[in-house]
Amino acid sequence: MDLYTAIHRRRDVRAEFTGEPVPDGTLHRILDAAHAAPSVGYTQPWDFVLVRDGDLRRRFHQHVQRERDVFAATLTGVAAERFARIKIDGVLESTLSIVVTYDESRGGPAVLGRHAIADAGLYSVCLAIQNLWLAATAERLGVGWVSFYREPFLADLLGIPPGVRPVAWLCVGPVTHLESVPDLARHGWRQKRPLAAALHTDRWTTTP
Ligand SMILES: Cc1cc2nc3c(=O)[nH]c(=O)nc-3n(C[C@H](O)[C@H](O)[C@H](O)COP(=O)(O)O)c2cc1C
Repeated sequence: MDLYTAIHRRRDVRAEFTGEPVPDGTLHRILDAAHAAPSVGYTQPWDFVLVRDGDLRRRFHQHVQRERDVFAATLTGVAAERFARIKIDGVLESTLSIVVTYDESRGGPAVLGRHAIADAGLYSVCLAIQNLWLAATAERLGVGWVSFYREPFLADLLGIPPGVRPVAWLCVGPVTHLESVPDLARHGWRQKRPLAAALHTDRWTTTP
């Protein structure tokens, strides 16, 4: 699969996981792709926790359901009705999960390129996640990013040490298919913003 095809075929997956095994070689390739990401000061501040244990995943899933309820309670009217129909995770159905973390202390204290922008470390972790997501797509696997959790809960669940932040819980595995339209667009939650609306030349312009 060429790069542009993978970029456009990539989807956030919740409902299409089959639960079939992921061959070790495939898993290694997608992790290796993540580990090849650029990082501020070459800090490589990420770690990957592979979560296969059913009990851990069930406990995380229960927590996600509680956080789903917290968010749902903030909605009213049409938004509440739409959200009720949207699946927000495939924690139990996917083959495994990969939790990606950020260690701010790695490569410190003098991180080249981070003195003015503390978030540059987090950006680096997100680039590793995107590499993983695209590589998984090229391997015909699905990935679903779950962010309905409180960081202290997840850190405690997986024994992540103080100072290391969980950035993403990724559900990973074979899928029946990848939808051509994002779930949130299909459910009428939000639609794609045209590229032209995101484009500015020289100075910020506000489109009517
Ligand atoms: C930082 C981040 C957090 C996300 N968290 C969730 C989540 O908790 N649950 C969910 O269903 N999708 C989550 N998503 C997926 C987005 O909803 C999805 O990327 C977006 O709707 C566009 O769809 P697509 O990825 O299929 O193109 C997350 C995506 C990102 C980048």
